[in-house]
Amino acid sequence: MQQHGSFADLVHVGPWENMPAVQQPEWRDHPAYDEACRFLSSAPPLVTATETRQLREALANLVSTGALVLQLGDCAESFYECTPRHTSEKLKVIDSLGDRLAELTGRHVVRVGRMGGQFAKPRSAANEWYEAVRIPSFRGHMINSDIGTSETRKAHPRRMVWAYEASDLVQRVMRTYRQGDLDAGPPDGPWSSHEALVVDYESRLIRRDPDSSDLYLSSTHLPWLGERTRQPDGAHVAMLSSVANAVGCKIGPRANTDDVLAVCAALDPRREPGRLVLIARMGRDRIADALPPIVRAVANAGHPAIWLSDPMHGNTRRLPTGLKTRYLGDMTAEAVRFREILDAQGQPASGLHIEVAAQDVTECVGGPVADEDELQRHYTSLCDPRLNPWQAAALIEAWSSGTT
Ligand code: PEP
Ligand code: CO
Repeated sequence: MQQHGSFADLVHVGPWENMPAVQQPEWRDHPAYDEACRFLSSAPPLVTATETRQLREALANLVSTGALVLQLGDCAESFYECTPRHTSEKLKVIDSLGDRLAELTGRHVVRVGRMGGQFAKPRSAANEWYEAVRIPSFRGHMINSDIGTSETRKAHPRRMVWAYEASDLVQRVMRTYRQGDLDAGPPDGPWSSHEALVVDYESRLIRRDPDSSDLYLSSTHLPWLGERTRQPDGAHVAMLSSVANAVGCKIGPRANTDDVLAVCAALDPRREPGRLVLIARMGRDRIADALPPIVRAVANAGHPAIWLSDPMHGNTRRLPTGLKTRYLGDMTAEAVRFREILDAQGQPASGLHIEVAAQDVTECVGGPVADEDELQRHYTSLCDPRLNPWQAAALIEAWSSGTT
């Protein structure tokens, strides 16, 4: 299954090398940096070019077939939850929520996991307080440890190698799972996706597709740009512009329409169906004002973008204890409003992008988690608060029926 490229096929330098990249670990002077980069440059691809083309085709046909996308998983994957058992549990949750969405809407659902490489997190603050000590923030297992000491929070480049190995484990189980479904027709996932944040890692996993000779990102099927790394003249946009995968981009409430148009032009210059996935993460109070002009401008510019709603990242609240949470009512309100806005603009609302745990966690308030006092019971997220499967089903039901 895995193809080894010849050295001539290894492509990791591009225009982004000399462009500003925000949110990067400072590890280039570390003695382990060069070795980690060499490892990645010659490693087999984690996903195949054929698979990335299959996902692009499924997305290209989305609008004409009336299909939907359901993208979900952890905020930050853990290195310690990449075993076949953990992966199978996550895949079952993705499929059962995908089945639920299909059943409620009567539409085909393309399933995408936030998994198989979601190991790096952008952070608003470089440092955080932990038991009265100021330490560097956790940036995902690809960069540092979740253990809260100054030493364990130092960025270590060898973590890129561990991230590759952990992704490989997950991708193999995902591939077997997809193939198990082949009797039912062409696979509709679950495909892998993650935020393409660490340029040192992602750029070294760019490979040449032996069939089309296009470049593709071999770390995941669907890489996306985060709200903090979508600068039109930045390294992240240039890096994803150079690859043929379907690519996503988060759009937050302060997004400037001209910047969004510049990013769309860079990522989708040929206006190709199935190339560009735009993920609105506005917040329930801001979506009504912020989203319509952007949807209109993108449509007028001729991009056949697939619009998804991430009703989570604009609705995070921090409790006095420092714990982060989200209210199911805020999320359903934003998701339903998203649909109404897309409908009013005559554009398809193509699905949801959500953070969901495979376990019965108590990280968001709503449904079985009656109030904030219950959050302590089972709060295990490494980063943002995730829905549990019950809460995710409730959100999907509200989105499908259009009522909160
Ligand atoms: C995320 O998806 O976990 C994330 C950090 O999102 P955003 O870039 O939209 O803030
Ligand atoms: Co998150």
